[in-house]
Amino acid sequence: MGSHVISQAWFALGITCLLAVSPAAAGGRRQILTEETVFDVAAFGAKPDGVTDNSMEFIRAWKAACTCPGKAKVLIPAGNFASGEVVFAGPCTSPAPIIFEIKGNLTAAPDLSMYSNFAWIMFQHVDNLVITGGGTLDGNGKKVWQFADGTTPLPASLILETMGNSKLENLKFVDSMGFHIKTTSCHDIVITNLTITAPDDSPNTDGFHVSRSTNVKVTDCLIGTGDDCVSIGEGNTNVTVARVACGPGHGISIGSLGKRPDEKNLRGVTISNCSLTGTTNGARIKTCHDSPNLIASAIVFEDIVMTDVKNPIIIDQNYHSTPNSKESTVKLVDVHFRKIRGSTISEVGVWLNCSMANPCEGVELADIDLVPSGFLGPVGFACTNAMATMAGIFNPLGPRQCIA
Ligand SMILES: *[C@@H]1O[C@H](CO)[C@@H](O)[C@H](O)[C@H]1NC(C)=O
Ligand SMILES: *[C@@H]1O[C@H](CO)[C@@H](O)[C@H](O)[C@H]1NC(C)=O
Ligand SMILES: *[C@@H]1O[C@H](CO)[C@@H](O)[C@H](O)[C@H]1NC(C)=O
Ligand SMILES: *[C@@H]1O[C@H](CO)[C@@H](O)[C@H](O)[C@H]1NC(C)=O
Ligand SMILES: *[C@@H]1O[C@H](CO)[C@@H](O)[C@H](O)[C@H]1NC(C)=O
Repeated sequence: MGSHVISQAWFALGITCLLAVSPAAAGGRRQILTEETVFDVAAFGAKPDGVTDNSMEFIRAWKAACTCPGKAKVLIPAGNFASGEVVFAGPCTSPAPIIFEIKGNLTAAPDLSMYSNFAWIMFQHVDNLVITGGGTLDGNGKKVWQFADGTTPLPASLILETMGNSKLENLKFVDSMGFHIKTTSCHDIVITNLTITAPDDSPNTDGFHVSRSTNVKVTDCLIGTGDDCVSIGEGNTNVTVARVACGPGHGISIGSLGKRPDEKNLRGVTISNCSLTGTTNGARIKTCHDSPNLIASAIVFEDIVMTDVKNPIIIDQNYHSTPNSKESTVKLVDVHFRKIRGSTISEVGVWLNCSMANPCEGVELADIDLVPSGFLGPVGFACTNAMATMAGIFNPLGPRQCIA
């Protein structure tokens, strides 16, 4: 209530923001309020025909909101709004928080030559942003997946870069070209109540990826894609993932780590109360050969339910190895798998394949209960180069201890 929609005509008059006076309040007195000004992209000329490239109209609405002296909201109303690459850059001078409300459908222009940044939509250098609205971001990936070559990533639907104290919530993501959401060099980000879907055979359509960020929380999401539902990359501190339902997809992964020489340590990841259904992996850590010397530590997977998962618990430090590549030197230490139960379709349900050069240390497997699905069993356990201890229920068949 009390919002104002700004028209282009007002802009022509040089009026950018309103400081509004409320109607008489219940007590009969008038109050001066700094009410929110709504910057509706339609008022900036955006056309909801599903075809017109609205990138410039979006940017104009964003710039007006970002520099508004009063509280500001960008609104993408109901309708089908197409656009190519858009960068919403800060810092903004409007009072916090700035709201970006997506009610309608945003669709990506399916022409790869329109993207230079590996992103369809990017937010950069903004503090206190809330992206919300119940709408959909459709990456139109079906039209470009044929061009995926496995080396150059296709544009991500949404990249949050150098952002702080921000929230992404209540949205649907469909068929990204590349990753659905990437968060990099950010701090204090909350991501909640998203639905992310793409076909299980779509290439590299990870649901959510985070790197080089601190204090990132992902909760209450439904994710089914052609790659990792959630992947936690290098350089992060304090990442929490809770109540994520994953499937189809490649599971919830830490890594891959050690792919590039400039990667940083990873510390503090807690993944809890998640379910994985029909995924190729469940709780996974993957590190590459020919890696820099990195440490990944304080990692907890807890209260996870697996249904028909191929590799429910897996550490793979030989990820993408080649005959001449050198063992991974990423050190995995203080890694906990607790209260993980459900069913697996493969004979090795728990597989710790650590690095000969830098064995895993301090791995805990506690209350693991896996039953076979679609085969007679038993469910097995294998460990190489891992110092691991078991506690409580341990129900793949195998040793109660691993020694590197
Ligand atoms: C989004 O697009 C779908 C399919 O084209 C349509 O059913 C739905 O009504 C659209 N939603 C909005 C909010 O425009
Ligand atoms: C989650 O988001 C959807 C829109 O995608 C919305 O309809 C629903 O109310 C949201 N749920 C909560 C708990 O906010
Ligand atoms: C990580 O989270 C813990 C607990 O929430 C907090 O005490 C700590 O300060 C955080 N670390 C950083 C670097 O923000
Ligand atoms: C996970 O589930 C357990 C048991 O239902 C509950 O006690 C705990 O608070 C939950 N934690 C999170 C982070 O959702
Ligand atoms: C570990 O992974 C490598 C590469 O994938 C594989 O060759 C090796 O057999 C695995 N070790 C065990 C014990 O499974």
